[in-house]
Amino acid sequence: MSKQNSEKPYKIQTTALGYKIYHYNNVYSTNDTAKEIAKKTSEERIVVLAEAQTRGKGRLGRRWISPKGGVWLSIILRPRITPIEALKLTFITSSAVAKTIKTMFGLMTEVKWPNDVLVNGRKICGILTETSSKRKSVESMVVGVGINANIDLECFSPSLRDAVTSLQYELGHKIKRKALTRNLLRNFEHRYKCLQRGLWNALLQEWKSMATFLGEQVQITSFDDVLAGEAWDIDEDGALVIRLENGTLEKVVVGDLTLRKQP
Ligand code: BTN
Repeated sequence: MSKQNSEKPYKIQTTALGYKIYHYNNVYSTNDTAKEIAKKTSEERIVVLAEAQTRGKGRLGRRWISPKGGVWLSIILRPRITPIEALKLTFITSSAVAKTIKTMFGLMTEVKWPNDVLVNGRKICGILTETSSKRKSVESMVVGVGINANIDLECFSPSLRDAVTSLQYELGHKIKRKALTRNLLRNFEHRYKCLQRGLWNALLQEWKSMATFLGEQVQITSFDDVLAGEAWDIDEDGALVIRLENGTLEKVVVGDLTLRKQP
């Protein structure tokens, strides 16, 4: 094992849901630790949980601020899907997070394409799905979930502070992270089983029902391109369909979405 993972997990237990949990104090990134573990076993439903990450990773090579107090975890899975379907895992995970936060704390949650969960319009959770594939089939997938749970917003740079939030900030008190993790895994498990049973359409409908940006004027930054138009739909592969000002529909598979302020 590389140096970054030389720290031993301080707790390994199997939950009632059949997940094996590797619990660490500090890792660089739970996704990286999970990918190392995935290479050494053919098991799935392994959860790597860390109190803090020193090199937490966000999408598109960004850094993910991960001090003590958050829920930073990665799930190792071996779904029977093609690499192109990886977005499906991201979608069912954000639905599970949104549902868990809404049910446990009564907060209104929304999902934002492709991988965010928002509360009061600010990001509370991000998901990073990484796939290891051989030829055209998926060998393993690591779904990384970062929830700003008991996090003080002072941890974020002033430039980020308006765009992010935490459960502690929204509720005015700390939450029980163990209960949140348990409920999240339960809600995730239900959706993962539905996906394996071929119920993707229903899962996508659920995600769309929480996607309040649909029908709004948005801007998408995708590599060096900026597109503006109405967020028209999500297609069956999870791509965002934009209706441009000239009426044409364009699909976007990678990018960052922001709502456009109306004049
Ligand atoms: C994003 O919104 O850009 C994705 C953020 C994903 C963060 C989580 S925290 C647990 C897991 N380990 C990582 O290094 N990243 C993911």
